[in-house]
Amino acid sequence: MKITVMKNAHEIGKSVGKLFVDAINAKPDITLGLATGASPIPTYKYIYREYQKGKVSLKDVKTYNLDEYVNLPKQDKNSYYSFMHTELFDHTDIKEKNVHFLNGNARDSARECKKYDEMLEKAQVDIQLLGVGRNGHIGFNEPSICFSKGAFKVNLTQSTINANSKYFDENPMPTQALTMGVGSIMKAKKIVLIATGIEKADAVTAMVNGDVTPVCPASILQFHHDVEVYLDEAAASLL
Ligand code: F6R
Repeated sequence: MKITVMKNAHEIGKSVGKLFVDAINAKPDITLGLATGASPIPTYKYIYREYQKGKVSLKDVKTYNLDEYVNLPKQDKNSYYSFMHTELFDHTDIKEKNVHFLNGNARDSARECKKYDEMLEKAQVDIQLLGVGRNGHIGFNEPSICFSKGAFKVNLTQSTINANSKYFDENPMPTQALTMGVGSIMKAKKIVLIATGIEKADAVTAMVNGDVTPVCPASILQFHHDVEVYLDEAAASLL
């Protein structure tokens, strides 16, 4: 793992944003695996600002998001579909047909997950962007007794519900999600992970220096040959 410690989330957004813009310019039909949550927002802002300046085009870029809540309407402001449109897609020339999400409202979630796995297998993600949960989750692969290969329906842990319920003001937060499996995440050619804030310090230490164990799903990244980790000083403080 290549670890870079930076001053703050804004600086990380500039560096990781530039990494993505350069990668898109080098391969305009690149396939990206994308994350939601607070961590990637400065990166997405950097990318769409470069688009607005005419420095990059996303018209042939293909994206696959990591996860989506179960039984939350696609148009709800808290769906990850809405998040990606608000934080990135709507500010760029990306084509709707090129953006892919797990459908958390699918009647047969097992079938939906299988379909997504098959699409991912064909698409071959060039760069996967990740955040990490306070409990070490990647995507919504929560601490468990085994690593999941493919996509599946997960019961979110209390730690994840506590971290994300602040976004849900009126309705309660969904307690289940569909997530890409650890096996699919590991197939990306390159992985870039962002973590900021003191509340991520334990997870970051376990990910970088701990045993590789499904108890800390992010620890599997130690086995990937091309991982770049971007941390602020607080998230790196226990390394
Ligand atoms: C989101 C996702 C999650 C988040 C993680 C960190 O698509 O897959 O693993 O990356 O929960 O969230 P933030 O960035 O909000 O701290």
